[in-house]
Formats: sequence, C-alpha cells, structure tokens
Amino acid sequence: MHRHGRGLHRVCRLDELPNGDKPVIKLVGGLKPVALARRGDRVYAFDAFCPHGKWNLGASGVVVGDGRPYVVCTGHGGVWSLVDGRGTVQKKDAPCLKLYRVAIMNGEVYVDLS
Ligand code: FES
Repeated sequence: MHRHGRGLHRVCRLDELPNGDKPVIKLVGGLKPVALARRGDRVYAFDAFCPHGKWNLGASGVVVGDGRPYVVCTGHGGVWSLVDGRGTVQKKDAPCLKLYRVAIMNGEVYVDLS
C-alpha cells in the first residue's frame, strides 16, 4: 500500500531495519534524510543531524533505553528523548531534536514528514 497523503511516505520494510542501538539514515520521500531506530516492534524517526553540532546521527548516534528511549550523540555527549525531542548537552538545555511520526502497516514503515 502506498499512501503519500498528509505527508506520509513509505520508507522500507520493518524487517529491513536492524533491531538495535544504531539508527539508520533513510531518504524519506526521496529528499529528506531521516534517522530511523528500531526497538522491537517500534520505530522512532528523527532528524538525521544532531541539533547541537549537526553530527550525522547515523554515524554518531546511539539509541539507549526501552519504552522511553533516548539517542545519545557521541559528538559531545548530547542526549535527546525520542518521546518528546527534548535534550541536553553536558547538562545544559539544547535545541530540540525534530521527531517524525511513524506508522507501521502490513510490515511496512511509513514516516510522516508533515
Ligand atoms: S554534535 Fe551532537 S552533541 Fe554536539
């Protein structure tokens, strides 16, 4: 099923995403780099670039925690919630990480760019 209304883009199959701590960068809608992190049956989508110093979170991001996971950027040790996008760098408030809504339908992962 392909649905592109309301900014929803099919990205890949769920079983193509590694289930672990390393985000994978995908070009969503053919143009927007988005980091996808799979934790079991859940997928979190967020900006591919760290909001602190723009490090590539596919290379420098590590996802930790289940239920309410965080991404840690090894650039300068920043930590961002994948639930609300709020984060800190060295215990100081940092700009929010942009999160994207994810839908999983028929084993396919969709990301909402709107
Ligand atoms: S670039 Fe990610 S914490 Fe600084």
